[in-house]
Amino acid sequence: MSTHALGTALPETSPGRLLPLPPTMPQHTPAGVVGHTPMLWIGEPFCAPQRGFWAKLEGHNPGGIKDRTALYMVERARERGQLAPGAPVVESTSGTLGLGLALAGITYGHPVSLVTDPGMEPLMARLLAAYGAEVHTVTEPHPSGGWQQARRDRVAELLAADPAAYCPDQYNNPDNVAAYAPLAHELTAQVGRIDTLIVAVGTGGHSAGVTRTLRAFCPHLRVVGVDTIGSTIFGQPARPRIMRGLGSSIHPRNVDYGAFDEVHWVDPAQAVRTSRVLACSHYATGGWSVGAVATVARWLSLTRPATDRIVAIFPDGPQRYFDTVFNDDYCAEHGLLDHPLLDEPDEIADTRDRVVTRWTRCARVVDPRALVSVTAEEPAAPKSSHSSTGSGEERR
Ligand SMILES: Cc1ncc(COP(=O)(O)O)c(C=O)c1O
Repeated sequence: MSTHALGTALPETSPGRLLPLPPTMPQHTPAGVVGHTPMLWIGEPFCAPQRGFWAKLEGHNPGGIKDRTALYMVERARERGQLAPGAPVVESTSGTLGLGLALAGITYGHPVSLVTDPGMEPLMARLLAAYGAEVHTVTEPHPSGGWQQARRDRVAELLAADPAAYCPDQYNNPDNVAAYAPLAHELTAQVGRIDTLIVAVGTGGHSAGVTRTLRAFCPHLRVVGVDTIGSTIFGQPARPRIMRGLGSSIHPRNVDYGAFDEVHWVDPAQAVRTSRVLACSHYATGGWSVGAVATVARWLSLTRPATDRIVAIFPDGPQRYFDTVFNDDYCAEHGLLDHPLLDEPDEIADTRDRVVTRWTRCARVVDPRALVSVTAEEPAAPKSSHSSTGSGEERR
């Protein structure tokens, strides 16, 4: 047995000691402090005795997990000549990528325009403006593609208005996947062998990128995707969603369906309760996606073999959620505090069995684009070596 920062005993299933990471970038610039985020052991009382998981605290990046991909996408676009010096960057975002792009804009000298919708927290909009970004808010959802498609349409308008403007297109840009190789290397350096990885899925970038690199070290790795109810990513019909960050109302090509061994849809009440319990028990928490990921990680820490080494990626911290997840009035208004915390998910055999409305698991993941009629904008992805259903990461 060894001890972690809180001074309690770590079970033998945890590595006990984290390895220091070598610095790879000068740390005296804003971009230089991105990455090398800490790991925290989440054990008792959040998890059962002798059970737990490692949380990768991506909220310790200046903006969040998407600082990694924002910098990487901008750097590669500059290298390829797709983004000229001083030319504007335009992107659709619910916030976290916006923070990263603002950082990239400051680092490389590009004006940044971000398209969002009324669901963006006022705090986030102000923060983005403070970091020098121009924030455009769409006012009406697209009739079938929801707010996300409406945002993408507005991006297209802004791009048409300025031929020099560049859109990273986080949903389909393979650089959004490749950007996460260093995160996978950090995980292996910090934890060593990893048996189970739990990841939130929005554009699919970090789940695809981390899995691709990690499986070279841990071929047996079990990858568990976490989505929100009402999201289309894993084949459910689009419904109104209040959880931000994870989930989608389109089918981003960067989602690598073949990477996942199972998927969980988590409801907002469960995510809220879990984020709050996590805050009280371990001080490290976040918002919708952290609550959802931690919900699933806690359950897996009980149901996977005790020897499994489990890692969950926490994409950001709690700050932007003070007016939603951590606001009692907001939660009461949305009926999020009326439900007891669930200990286990419902189960469906096929992602299309029924519309899920609370935490549900499906152990069979398929690419919904292979099942529905394909549009010109969202072509089906080719098969990948790891996938029976196709991977979007090789194409844009
Ligand atoms: C807070 C948060 N969680 C999860 C995700 C999903 O990550 P990805 O887009 O890499 O799938 C995002 C993406 O923006 C996010 O901002």
